[in-house]
Formats: sequence, C-alpha cells, structure tokens
Amino acid sequence: MRVTPFLLVLLVLLLLPPPTQSKNADRDKGPKVGRHRRRQSRVGGRGRRGRSEDSSHQAPECSEYSNSGEMFLDCQGRKLSSIPTASSWSRAPDHLLLARNRIRALRNGSFSGFEGLLSLDLQQNQISVLEVGTFLGLTRLTTLLLQHNRLSTLSEEALIPMPFLRYLRLHDNPWICRCTLDSLVRTLQVPSNRNLGNHARCEEPVRLKGRKLRQLDPELLCLEIEAPSEPLDPQDNGWSNSTVPLQPSPIRSKPDATTVCHTYMFPTPHMDCRSRDLTEVPADIPGDIVHMDLSQNNLRRLKARDFVAASSLRSLNLSHNNLENMDTASLSGLLHLRELDLSNNSLRFFHYGVLEDLYFLSLLKLGGNPWVCDYGIHYLVYWLRLHPGVTHSGLFCHSPPELRGQSVKGYVHSYNRACGQTDQTDPEHWNTALELQGVLEEQEVEPPHMRTEKYRITRLN
Ligand SMILES: *[C@@H]1O[C@H](CO)[C@@H](O)[C@H](O)[C@H]1NC(C)=O
Ligand SMILES: *[C@@H]1O[C@H](CO)[C@@H](O)[C@H](O)[C@H]1NC(C)=O
Ligand SMILES: *[C@@H]1O[C@H](CO)[C@@H](O)[C@H](O)[C@H]1NC(C)=O
Ligand SMILES: *[C@@H]1O[C@H](CO)[C@@H](O)[C@H](O)[C@H]1NC(C)=O
Repeated sequence: MRVTPFLLVLLVLLLLPPPTQSKNADRDKGPKVGRHRRRQSRVGGRGRRGRSEDSSHQAPECSEYSNSGEMFLDCQGRKLSSIPTASSWSRAPDHLLLARNRIRALRNGSFSGFEGLLSLDLQQNQISVLEVGTFLGLTRLTTLLLQHNRLSTLSEEALIPMPFLRYLRLHDNPWICRCTLDSLVRTLQVPSNRNLGNHARCEEPVRLKGRKLRQLDPELLCLEIEAPSEPLDPQDNGWSNSTVPLQPSPIRSKPDATTVCHTYMFPTPHMDCRSRDLTEVPADIPGDIVHMDLSQNNLRRLKARDFVAASSLRSLNLSHNNLENMDTASLSGLLHLRELDLSNNSLRFFHYGVLEDLYFLSLLKLGGNPWVCDYGIHYLVYWLRLHPGVTHSGLFCHSPPELRGQSVKGYVHSYNRACGQTDQTDPEHWNTALELQGVLEEQEVEPPHMRTEKYRITRLN
C-alpha cells in the first residue's frame, strides 16, 4: 500500500516521454510543487542517468580525475541543465566542477550524495533560483563559486549548512539590494568572513546600483519598506530622486580582475581574461592565482607594478596583444613565474632590467614581435645568456631591413665580434657598457646566483 504512490510516479515517468524541456519547465515552477518535486527529483535522477546514457552524444560524461589524492569530477562546459546524479561516479568526489553549463535552478536535494564535497564550482551558469535547502548536508564545503549567474537574491539561511565555507564568490549576479538581501549582506560584512562575496554589487534598485554588498550599509536595504513621504513614482519603485539622492557608483579607472575575468580555483587557481577587450592589466589580481591568461586583448603597455600583487603566478600569457612597451618594473614581483608568453605583440626591445625578478623562468615565447636588432636588444640577449635554463623561441630581427629574419643572437654575436669581443668576454663587455651608463658596478667573477642577486639590488636602486 505504502509504495503505491511511488510506483505510480515511477510508472508515469516511465510512460511519459522524457524531454528535458518539460522537466525544466517543471523545475522552474518554483516552491509550490514542494514535496512532490523533491520525490520526483530522486526518481528523476535515475531517469536522468538513463537518459544521459541514451544521449551521451548530447551531454558527454563528466571526467573524473585525481590530483594530490583528491578526487575531481569535471563536468565543465557539458551543456548540463541539471546536477548529475552522485551515484553515477566511481568515488565520491571532493571537488565538483560544473562551470559553464546551463543550470537554471538549484533545488533542495540537488547535491544529495555529494556530502563529501570540499568545493563546488557553479560559475557561468544561468542560476536564478536557489532554494534555501540546496546545500543541506554539504558540511565540509569550503569553496562555493556562484559568480557569473543570474541570482538576484539569496538568503543567509542557505549558507548555514556550510560552517567551513571560506570562499564564496557571488559577483556578476544581478543582486537586488532590497530587504530580502539583508541577512546575506550582514553575513558578508562579518569581519572574519574576509573571502565571502567580495566584488558582488547591487544591480537594483537604481539608487544602489554598483554598490558593493560588502560595503553597503544594511540599513539602506530596507528603507523602501518605510513609506516614503513623497508621492510614489511608479517608475522608480517608490523612490523619487528627491527622497534619496542617487549615489553614483564609485568611478574605477581600471577594470577589476575578479569581475572582468573568469576565475577557476581547481585544480590550480587560474584566471581566464582572454579576449575581454582589455586595454590595461586589470587591477586586484588575487594573490593566489597561479595561471593567468591575458591573451587576445588590446594591451599596449605594461605599467610598473601591474603584477605586483600576483606573487603566485607561474604562467602568464600576454600573447596576441598590441604590447609595445613594458615599463622596467612591470614584471616586478613575479618571483615564481615559469612561463611567459609574449608572442604576437609589437615589442621591439626590452628595457634594461625588465626581466630581473624572473628568477625561475623556464619558458619565454617571443615570436611574432618586430624585434629591432640594434643596441637596445643586447640586454635581452645578455639576460638569456645569464639564464641558460630559459628556453626561448621566436627571437628574430624584424629590422633593420638588412638583418630581417636573422636570429637576434646571431646579430649580437656578430656585433660583438665586429667590436673585437669574444663570446666569453661578451658579458664583461656588456657590464662595461652598463658601467658607462652608471647603472651597474659589478665584476664578472661572481657565480651566476650571485649575479642574479646583484641584479635584484640593481633594480632597487
Ligand atoms: C527546502 O528546504 C528548506 C530547509 O530544509 C525548507 O525550509 C524549504 O521549505 C524547502 N523548500 C522546498 C521547496 O522544498
Ligand atoms: C528628479 O526630481 C525632479 C524634481 O524633484 C524632477 O523634475 C526630475 O525629473 C527627477 N529626475 C529623475 C531622473 O527622476
Ligand atoms: C597563450 O594564448 C594563445 C592565444 O590565446 C595560445 O595560442 C597559446 O598557446 C598560449 N600560450 C601558452 C604558453 O599557453
Ligand atoms: C604569431 O607569431 C608566430 C611566430 O611565433 C607566427 O608564426 C604567427 O603567424 C603569428 N600569428 C599571428 C596571428 O600574427
């Protein structure tokens, strides 16, 4: 007797054709389908799995991999409209990557079976509905990424099941800063919650547009509820500009990295800023980012300290920009950089000293630049000679015309020969030149590691 309704639901599900459309429509009906829906979602979970087997060409299986003993389930960019069923995978994942899918709603129970998760990446979906019980049971979760979605409101209650949550990304969602957001805003503003909801901004109402949730006076959220004394202007949601002056959003000269770029935390923190029409290196690159892709933008110049906060960067891709100029201190702080891709830019030479912080560089891509083979290129060649561990490519003269196509190293070599220098004494020659410029006073007798040390000091001078 007791199982009959269950069997009935199952029967109905089996008999009905299972188009994703009707299911989504059902999902979006909202809370009134409540308990019924919850049960359906469990059965539906199995149905979903069956379906994905049938139509695996549409929704390719997620891939499982492990890294440092932690299990990753990577379902990014799979056109998924719902959360895959936990039981489909061989081992309970520690990290569930669902970025760049088509998920619109997160329901109670969506993550049942995923209780072991440490991180959950839901960025770049179309999530506009998030039920309060969605994250129930995710007690170990430390990282929750919800940026670049369509959330306009979220109750703090939804976060309560996750006592260890340390990173919560909420930016690039159209937050409606009204009374319902009060509990969330207050939570984000607790001083110990340093990494919760940074960069998230109000979209509405107009008077608060562009304001950061973390910096907003929570009192402003609920103002609306108190009846304004002025007559209501229906266009303005009860606010005429005479009651509360419009607060202009803060003027920012530079785009903010976390907002313009996409950040992925796992397996290694990386930031994808490709093809964003950037004319400047964005500000506030988080210090934990390991890989950064700024390729295919319109950067013309790197300025001093552009990357000074990005001290964990191991690879930096600046290819396919219009870089003409890199200020001497523009790469300063990149002490751990291994790979630097500067290919396909408009670079003609390097300023003396620009590479001096790159102690651990091992790959330098220089192709597709109009390198000018005159004295200005000697610094680069000299630096490469002092750093034999650096593999470089694409260093060919573009001008003057008679040297076009020749390797830059070959040019420097023949230049030195012409001046009566041999290869062994070439660095000394360079030093002499520098001393003449009053830049460097060092002898040629030190071991290489001392030399780099010396250079650091030089840069600071
Ligand atoms: C979701 O779960 C929360 C907390 O358990 C509960 O308050 C809420 O009513 C549930 N909503 C639905 C639609 O089931
Ligand atoms: C602001 O208020 C003034 C009068 O109080 C009105 O004339 C004007 O149209 C209002 N502007 C906007 C943008 O609502
Ligand atoms: C840098 O970006 C370009 C274009 O986006 C890509 O072709 C290249 O492979 C990247 N370089 C590295 C070292 O990954
Ligand atoms: C980029 O540079 C490479 C040389 O490293 C060159 O072969 C290629 O044609 C360039 N691509 C473009 C789009 O300029």
